[in-house]
Amino acid sequence: MAGAEFSDAAVPRELLRRRAYNLRWAQQPDDVIPLTAADSDFPVSPAVRERLTQFVADGLFNYGPPEGLPEFRATLAQWYTERRGVPYEPTAVLATDSAAAAMTVVARASLAPGDEVLIPDPVDFLFEHAIRRAGAIPVRVPLAPKTTATDYVAALGARLTSRTRMVWLCNPHNPWGTVPTRRWLQAVARWAVRHRLRLLSDEVWADITYPPHRCTSVAALAPEIAAQTVTIYGFSKNFALAGLRVGAVLCTDPTWREEIVTAADVRSTAAGVSVLSQVAAVAAMQAGEPWLAEFLSHLRKQRDLVLGRLRRWPGVATRPPQGTFVAFPDLSRLDPDAEHLCQHFEHKAKVALVPGSPRWFGPGAAGHVRISFATSREILTEAFDRLDPVVFELASGR
Ligand SMILES: Cc1ncc(COP(=O)(O)O)c(C=O)c1O
Repeated sequence: MAGAEFSDAAVPRELLRRRAYNLRWAQQPDDVIPLTAADSDFPVSPAVRERLTQFVADGLFNYGPPEGLPEFRATLAQWYTERRGVPYEPTAVLATDSAAAAMTVVARASLAPGDEVLIPDPVDFLFEHAIRRAGAIPVRVPLAPKTTATDYVAALGARLTSRTRMVWLCNPHNPWGTVPTRRWLQAVARWAVRHRLRLLSDEVWADITYPPHRCTSVAALAPEIAAQTVTIYGFSKNFALAGLRVGAVLCTDPTWREEIVTAADVRSTAAGVSVLSQVAAVAAMQAGEPWLAEFLSHLRKQRDLVLGRLRRWPGVATRPPQGTFVAFPDLSRLDPDAEHLCQHFEHKAKVALVPGSPRWFGPGAAGHVRISFATSREILTEAFDRLDPVVFELASGR
């Protein structure tokens, strides 16, 4: 039956309570619904399960090549060529154990202590984390859904110093859910190239967009931009493989790539990506597209459900996400302290959300709350049914 993969019955709540960590089911009290970390509640595609089952049945788990299995590198290069119009060669691909790890490896390879990196404010905490782990300094550039390229470039320029080395972009953007247009990206990337700054484009959300919005790869903009850009990619959002920890760095510059491979420490075998995880990612790219299309159609309905429910809340402003499976409403009229508000929601409504606090997204997230909606219609409806009375009580000032 079409859509059965994403029916209410498809979410195995009891199993999630034992298996889903990172602020989710397994880490919450039994009566709490976690719309927290951006991780799907649905089992992965049949194509991935079948390929893994076959691989396990073969019984061979030997060392893989340091930079990734040949089929992983070739399939990802082809995937990027076909879907995003970036003609990556397999040699451009380095397998990493997650998009998060890919960012830390690029930071370690590309930055020296005291170097500065221009990042959006707000943005996922991993940006700041990766840069600080390299001893470098994240410099925040205010970004709102309506920030024009001209304004963003001006804000970048105002923060440019002799220590600035890179510009990092979240494309599509977590938590805003915006999908930057080609023009917007072009203006920003051209500015970076003109100032001899390297670019990092985190495209872990690239496949989760809602028409007419589409992710444009920064490396697809122009050859001179591609030469200065690394792309970060992953399989946690599009194919629900978060626990398999698999992602990649894509980089065309051979010297820079070599530095990244060295920083990753894969040739010593001290680091490296599980072959099983790479096999899952290959299966997802080769045979998971029909599942991904169903997932997107489910997510679109979930997004509309969230928007419809948020519209009923008095004084709450939100914009429809153009991509990602998170909504990021401004709830400051209910409570300007988002940490406090989320504690209140968890206590009173038994729904866990991510507060827009500096530790998660930066100061620019103040007053907002992030709601992940990659769950079933039933669970999302139940969460809003629980939140409504608490919100109305707060709004009425009681
Ligand atoms: C923008 C962004 N980058 C990276 C990641 C991490 O992805 P992974 O699970 O592959 O490490 C996330 C996860 O939420 C994200 O939102």
